[in-house]
Amino acid sequence: MITEGQLRAIQTYALRQLAQDHSGHGSDHLQRVNRLARRLAQAEGANLNLTLAAAWLHDVIDDKLMADPIKAHQDLANQLTSLHVTPADQAAIFDIIDHMSFSKSFNGVQKLSLEGQIVQDADRLDAIGAIGIARALYYSGHVGEKIYDPTIAPREQLTRDQYRNQPGTAINHFYEKLFKLADLMNTASAKTLAAHRTTVMHQFVDQFKAEWTADDEA
Ligand code: ADP
Ligand code: NI
Repeated sequence: MITEGQLRAIQTYALRQLAQDHSGHGSDHLQRVNRLARRLAQAEGANLNLTLAAAWLHDVIDDKLMADPIKAHQDLANQLTSLHVTPADQAAIFDIIDHMSFSKSFNGVQKLSLEGQIVQDADRLDAIGAIGIARALYYSGHVGEKIYDPTIAPREQLTRDQYRNQPGTAINHFYEKLFKLADLMNTASAKTLAAHRTTVMHQFVDQFKAEWTADDEA
């Protein structure tokens, strides 16, 4: 059982680890994922503190975000041990955060615990809807991508390396990833939220393209 005290210490640790992030994984992302994870855990009857612990920690060992993911993994294990998180709870946390990222699911489907499915749903929900639109534009600016270029086709059906070497645009990211996320939700509660958030994104992209060609409605 993860205690309230352990959970607060885990929150502080996660926020400290990602404090310097400017790619859209900072404390605001963690706070939103936690609010979503709490809502989903309550609706789905999951273990709340395990869900929230994994939600705080889900990005701290990410190989995109951490210079040395093996060290980040070891640091986290040491931290959890010093907080007297039991070996069983540590195993449950690592089982979630090691296996839930979108890129890792390219390598075959990993069966997650209910709590893991919820954290994955919460993370994916935070990539869609109005927040998802804002994050996609923010990320594209961060990495120097264009907002839109009608001559660049979405990078469908490519290997990971090909995918990495093609130019992207913010608008293409909706076709390449964001419009697909609703179908990947695990839990019923997340599916309902995702359907509404996906409608919002389609309205945005449709309006964006209409404005691009000055064909929008008066
Ligand atoms: P995760 O939170 O699953 O690790 P990513 O690191 O892939 O997600 O993305 C962080 C945020 O940036 C997400 O909101 C995602 O939609 C957005 N993003 C990622 N790649 C791109 C891209 N090529 N163009 C626009 N937005 C992107
Ligand atoms: Ni995340």
